[in-house]
Amino acid sequence: MRHLLTLEDWSPDQIAEAIATARTIKANPAKYADTLRRKTLCMIFEKPSLRTRLSFEAGMNQMGGHAIYYDTSTSPFGAGKESIADTVRTMCRYVDIIMARLFKHEDLLEMARYSTVPLINALTNFSHPGQILADLQTIEEHKGRLKGLKLAYLGDSFNNVTHSLLFACPKMGMHLSIGCPEGKDYEPAASAFAAARADAARNGVEFEVSHDAAAAIRGADVVYTDSWMSYHIPKDKAGARMKIFGPYQVTGELMKKARPDAIFLNCLPAMRGMEQTAEVIDGPQSVVFDEAENRMHMHKALMLILLRQAGTIQG
Ligand code: CP
Ligand code: NVA
Repeated sequence: MRHLLTLEDWSPDQIAEAIATARTIKANPAKYADTLRRKTLCMIFEKPSLRTRLSFEAGMNQMGGHAIYYDTSTSPFGAGKESIADTVRTMCRYVDIIMARLFKHEDLLEMARYSTVPLINALTNFSHPGQILADLQTIEEHKGRLKGLKLAYLGDSFNNVTHSLLFACPKMGMHLSIGCPEGKDYEPAASAFAAARADAARNGVEFEVSHDAAAAIRGADVVYTDSWMSYHIPKDKAGARMKIFGPYQVTGELMKKARPDAIFLNCLPAMRGMEQTAEVIDGPQSVVFDEAENRMHMHKALMLILLRQAGTIQG
């Protein structure tokens, strides 16, 4: 059974196929109005969401199917009364496809072990692959290509979004430059770092992690940042993290060191005055709402591809 757990498992061709499919669906959504007719998606949420929940649910509806929002806080699993194994084995008797937003990545891998239907990672503490696929689609729309572009990511890098960028960008022939504070709580996890280094060497692109925001952003075609206070970070850490990440805030001044035609991405939700200033996210280089829109086209593409592969739908 093919799932989407991390982009580490996906080949460049599979990533390119997802982007091309999302682009096709976006260009002609009416053509797909019945493609997932009577199919059911279960959406398991342990954490909050605006974009992921709505884009999956609207996307499934637009393709003729139905989505069930399943909040773990009101589930036997969340109450500690039912194992992941039994939850997933039961769920697979009702639904055609599952997406899960969880704290522990290990719990997602456990779900995958028992799932007889495709499973999509809708964010764990470790990775956020569907987000980065939509981001690549957005970059390609605005820049006309991925290969040879430089993406600079600034801020919290021991982070699901950063890890997924590490798994995807060098693999797709993009230069990747990370600017983050020193320390294991702020730098990418070793496994994502190693994957990026190997992919970069294979594709002859640059990959670097530095502790100098200005150096990291220099000459970038794409500037990306993410929340300093991810959903799983306790609120009482906010003060300390503001200080630690402060030098990596994407400001108008810093943006001038990127290429003049650079675009700005943030997966959202965003805090103005934290990971970026308002002038950047609300300025002309920002494409954050195109990025948010593309989550829906990409989720449709992922459901289509995975359900075709599973043999649940034909064509
Ligand atoms: N970017 C993203 O995943 O947003 P939500 O947390 O609102 O789903
Ligand atoms: N890194 C962020 C992404 C939100 C979509 C978080 O985990 O909260």
